[in-house]
Amino acid sequence: MQDKSSLLKKLKKPLESGKIQLPPFSATAMKIQQEATKKNPDTDLIEKLIMSDQALTTKILRMANSSYYQGLSAIKTVRNAIVRLGTQEVSKITMMVTQKGRYKAKDQAINQQMRELWQHSVGCAIASNWICRKIGFDRPPQEVFFAGLLHDVGKLFMLTMLDRIKLTYEQPTQFSEAFILELVNGSLHTVYGYKLLKKWNLPLKYCEITQNHHSEVLDKDDIFLMAVQLGNKACNNLNIGLREKPPIPLTETEQFHLLGLSQIDMAELEIKLADSKMLTK
Ligand SMILES: [Fe+2]
Ligand SMILES: [Fe+2]
Repeated sequence: MQDKSSLLKKLKKPLESGKIQLPPFSATAMKIQQEATKKNPDTDLIEKLIMSDQALTTKILRMANSSYYQGLSAIKTVRNAIVRLGTQEVSKITMMVTQKGRYKAKDQAINQQMRELWQHSVGCAIASNWICRKIGFDRPPQEVFFAGLLHDVGKLFMLTMLDRIKLTYEQPTQFSEAFILELVNGSLHTVYGYKLLKKWNLPLKYCEITQNHHSEVLDKDDIFLMAVQLGNKACNNLNIGLREKPPIPLTETEQFHLLGLSQIDMAELEIKLADSKMLTK
């Protein structure tokens, strides 16, 4: 069995040396997100950006036709997706399809945890976005969605590294599932996530959300962070993805009170989250 401290050293190395072996977020998705947050987004540009990548186009159309989004008739073109779903929704879909491919591992057990982490990340993105809309928070919704999607990116980094270590280490290395979960769910994932997003040059707000999403010290004016924290807790309660902590009723959380939500809101959020599973099947 691999010793925990020597394993942590191996995990830290690429972050400390600056050689992070996890590619940055898709440049196309970032460009689309930036365009979609504008007051009058250029839909031609968004369409062009998507269509310049055939694989991306196919994935976006597949997701736009999933049972989560599907309307009365099939969406056959990117233009059709933009018209029917809107630029914001297309921007979110682009983020999801470009991120999804990273949540994969060669090792079977780690791959399963990657899958759960992906479900959790999408669930948190949808929940955080939904909460912000509900309270009329005026931040562009896809920014909140993006923050939710990335909040546990430190875990993605750790699982990716563990998978590589497991494959390349000279001695056969065995990590039990419990060992991996303990390591990945520990506070280190917030440190690694922060460093990773800084390295990718993402705006400071995303870095801070990744760093502080488990913080119990709340700033009542930081609605963006509290929405992600409550979204995270909602996923945790419904066992969507890697469970970080024992469940607690959302109505007993400080975020619920500070955001001025109601019990009915929380019931609606649970329904929304149950639907989100359709996106990650
Ligand atoms: Fe977390
Ligand atoms: Fe989380």
